[in-house]
Amino acid sequence: MAVEFRHIPVLFREVMDNLNIRPDGIYVDGTLGGAGHSHEIAARLTEGGRLIGIDQDRDAIAAATEHLSDVSDRVAIVHDNYEHIPEILRDLGIEGVDGILLDLGVSSYQLDNPARGFSYNQDEPLDMRMDQEGPVSAKDILNTWDAAKLTRILRDYGEEKFASRIAANIVKERQTKPFETTVDLVKVIRASIPMRMQEKFGNPCKRTFQAVRIACNRELDVLNDNIDRITDCLNPGGRLCIITFHSLEDRIVKNAFRRNENPCTCPPEFPVCVCGKMPKGRVITKKPITPSGEELENNKRSASSKLRVFEKISEEEAREITDRRMGRK
Ligand SMILES: C[S@@+](CC[C@H](N)C(=O)[O-])C[C@H]1O[C@@H](n2cnc3c(N)ncnc32)[C@H](O)[C@@H]1O
Repeated sequence: MAVEFRHIPVLFREVMDNLNIRPDGIYVDGTLGGAGHSHEIAARLTEGGRLIGIDQDRDAIAAATEHLSDVSDRVAIVHDNYEHIPEILRDLGIEGVDGILLDLGVSSYQLDNPARGFSYNQDEPLDMRMDQEGPVSAKDILNTWDAAKLTRILRDYGEEKFASRIAANIVKERQTKPFETTVDLVKVIRASIPMRMQEKFGNPCKRTFQAVRIACNRELDVLNDNIDRITDCLNPGGRLCIITFHSLEDRIVKNAFRRNENPCTCPPEFPVCVCGKMPKGRVITKKPITPSGEELENNKRSASSKLRVFEKISEEEAREITDRRMGRK
């Protein structure tokens, strides 16, 4: 049975306000999903304006293609990972863009679709790949990774206090029967966490499922390794808007934006900068933008979302800032 693609775009008005959409500008949505944000971006474009929508999930590509059919004259849809934005733009002959949106994580469609294995609330085959052709599924991780590697992802990607105990029990359990479905994993998690701690920090399965999902899709590595490359694709004045859903992602974005605003690596005791590293732009959101009370009421899944925005500056402006920091002006 086909599952309807349902997803309410988060921080919708805030994204539109911050992307500074120009009717003739070129924009990239690196996490197209059901095209909730993208449809509005494309609708604001006129002749000359273009939107490039990217998603690694073929179901999202199909849903977005349908949703964007009335604006298809100004849209290019690409099935790929956003880590390849620079190469995708190069292949399309685009030298620079005026705005890029990344709305990270999984869509409600992916979470709610029992075929995808993201949910601990129903019994599903353990998959968790956003890209259905991705090389590593949750099942592969749970049935083959050793205890040390499992502990590391549960601790680093799930911030799970009982990481080593859950990892040891995963390894023990699979000697009797390999992991097949989400319920197999739920049982091991519940058996590994003391009863009195089970609901103390929300559903005890949330952290392990998050960790396995992040590992499966290399989510933090893709983000960390590509923010700078993606920022380099912006025209001066162009903006990078990133929505995150947990502190691990948000920390990566916050630190990358700060570093790109001030990349100076001189010791703090130096009176002026001598490294001469040039900024890429400025941080627009000193504090992240979070959902309004109204949005929280209408969409529970927006609760942990945070939007951070970075604006690219021109080379001349970057040089002026660097000269000032070096005491040359
Ligand atoms: C939160 S949803 C985006 C929803 C979208 N903004 C909307 O309004 O419908 C995230 C989407 O990004 C996709 N995604 C996540 N990481 C990705 C990556 N590294 N490359 C490409 N797509 C990715 C997921 O497959 C999912 O469809």
